[in-house]
Amino acid sequence: MDLKFSPEQALIRKVAREFSESEVAPRAEVMDREHEFPYELISLMGKVGFLGMVIPKEYGGSGSDSVSYVTAIEEISRHSAVAGVIMAVHNSVSSYPILKYGTDEQKERFLPRMATGEVLGGFALTEPEAGSDVMGVRTTADKDGDGWVLNGSKIFITQGRASGVVIVLARTKQENTSKSFSTFLVEKDMDGFTYGSLEDKMGITASDTSELIFEDLYIPDENRLGSIGLGFKIAMSSLDGGRIGIGAQGLGIARACLEESIKYAKEREQFGRPIAKFQAIQWMLAEMATRVEAARGLVLQAAFLKDAGKPFGDISAMAKMYATDAAMWCAVQAVQIHGGYGYTRDYPVERYMRDAKVTQIYEGTNEIQRMVVARGLL
Ligand code: CAA
Repeated sequence: MDLKFSPEQALIRKVAREFSESEVAPRAEVMDREHEFPYELISLMGKVGFLGMVIPKEYGGSGSDSVSYVTAIEEISRHSAVAGVIMAVHNSVSSYPILKYGTDEQKERFLPRMATGEVLGGFALTEPEAGSDVMGVRTTADKDGDGWVLNGSKIFITQGRASGVVIVLARTKQENTSKSFSTFLVEKDMDGFTYGSLEDKMGITASDTSELIFEDLYIPDENRLGSIGLGFKIAMSSLDGGRIGIGAQGLGIARACLEESIKYAKEREQFGRPIAKFQAIQWMLAEMATRVEAARGLVLQAAFLKDAGKPFGDISAMAKMYATDAAMWCAVQAVQIHGGYGYTRDYPVERYMRDAKVTQIYEGTNEIQRMVVARGLL
């Protein structure tokens, strides 16, 4: 792996870092406190190009490589995990599957508007009885004339209400095989599509996490994504890429924990000197920095393999698992280093700790990632 960034990759990192410091950082704390979905920030992210990174130039995106993409997610997540997950879900598991499996007509219909953020994308797999177990999906899509009728519900859907288009995995055959599922492009204003509960969460409070309900929802066949029976594979292969994005989000949070802890340890004095002078604190910082670097190595390696057209599913599972575990571990250390202040909302580390937790859960729990890695080994 070539660890040197190309001039274009370095430029994207610089632009993302500056944008994150100037536009994301000032909004992050208020977003968290008010639980407000950041429409204004999304519009800015769309203008700068962060919502069209995986979309080729011919459809209005920037056609960036995966290394640039995950680098941008790390920078955005450094200041807001909410902005990071919006970017990751929109690009990796919504725009990308349309690009990879969509018809020319579907690409032309959706991608230009997704590239600018005018239409936000979502991905709906999870149900009360399915999440880790994809075969447990109960939502059905039955053939009806020229189209399909969708019935069922999805839970915990990131940007469920805010999305203009959601990729929905549904059962098109009763028997339980990987060929029994298909994916559909469900649009916001379709009759029979409503929303259930909006989750009140521990972290990423400004992210809209919703229940989606489909009642006799008619979908024209032109909104079927990919061939009939290919849904399981479309979901799995999209998640392979998505996991690198969530790994990058974890990396951004872990780095935030480290940087805030270094700053605080130099400022805070106890026993007549900055706490950074104490070996106990130094060891925590050293361990945090090591995990941040190791996480970045895995995330970049997975992105590099994807760009090179090589198999990357197992490394992507490792990157997601390691980087998000690093985020949680670094957040716990950061709160500890900040002591009593770390437990208050006066410092951002308590937010990082609440936000870090979900990264170990969504886009496949870290137990599922270990299962994927072990299957690859065995
Ligand atoms: N790419 C392409 N195809 C794949 C694949 C992949 N990564 N993984 C499996 N497949 C194929 C297999 O080759 C197999 O094909 P055949 O039937 O033709 O042989 C088929 O899919 C079934 O594979 P498995 O037998 O391995 O399936 P399984 O039922 O044992 O499940 C699993 C495997 C790894 C546990 C999988 O179910 C999984 O990844 N689960 C977690 C799902 C997940 O990430 N859920 C999170 C919800 S989405 C989310 O959180 C988004 C968000 O909002 C942030």
